[in-house]
Amino acid sequence: MSFFHHPTAIIDEGANIGNRTQVWHWVHISAGAVIGEDCILGQNVFVANKVIIGNKVKIQNNVSVYDCVTLEDDVFCGPGMVFTNVYNPRAFIERKVEYKNTLVKRGATLGANCTIVCGISIGEYAFVGAGTLINEDVPAFALYVGVPGRQTGWMSKYGERMNLPLKGKGKYTCPKTGEQYELKGELVFLLTD
Ligand SMILES: CC(C)(COP(=O)(O)OP(=O)(O)OC[C@H]1O[C@@H](n2cnc3c(N)ncnc32)[C@H](O)[C@@H]1OP(=O)(O)O)[C@@H](O)C(=O)NCCC(=O)NCCS
Repeated sequence: MSFFHHPTAIIDEGANIGNRTQVWHWVHISAGAVIGEDCILGQNVFVANKVIIGNKVKIQNNVSVYDCVTLEDDVFCGPGMVFTNVYNPRAFIERKVEYKNTLVKRGATLGANCTIVCGISIGEYAFVGAGTLINEDVPAFALYVGVPGRQTGWMSKYGERMNLPLKGKGKYTCPKTGEQYELKGELVFLLTD
């Protein structure tokens, strides 16, 4: 494996880190972690044992990726965003066997300082605005903002608002990439890839 790590990073023996991944200052990667190729882990990132991170994932400063979180390829985690894995924590009750999974699908963006309550799935290329609280599943391409987070629109793979209603029928062509999308009911599909 040939990845870069800053001398201040702590990488526990057994951690699996893909080629060309960059591990920056004061990062801690636990022994069981699996991290793909071409990722960037910014300053003070923590990666727990039961974590799988795909390729080309960017994790900005001060993010802890706790047990039972899975990040697929091309996921962006903004600075200071928060994952969780215990739904109803109490300091005096051990809940390690009750961890709930969080799945962030390919290409999704999690904005700065957002919080993802555990047991949630975030769809492909979904976009979570800065400071948003996610406590329900997020469909592919959906834009969620606010506390609690609610869907306010649709975001293209390119990262721009799509001129589509929240529900119904519609088509959208990205002016930057030419990619075509179709709204069917409450879901958006990418027709070309
Ligand atoms: C969501 C985002 C991309 C803006 O998208 P947009 O389509 O340009 O949205 P607009 O700015 O036109 O705002 C539309 C509405 O959503 C609201 N809104 C936008 N972002 C919001 C957010 N993060 N939280 C709450 N409300 C938000 C706006 O206030 C506006 O509300 P209004 O209709 O009542 O006036 C941007 O606000 C954002 O959160 N970007 C993430 C930045 C980030 O975390 N970067 C990390 C790397 S540094």
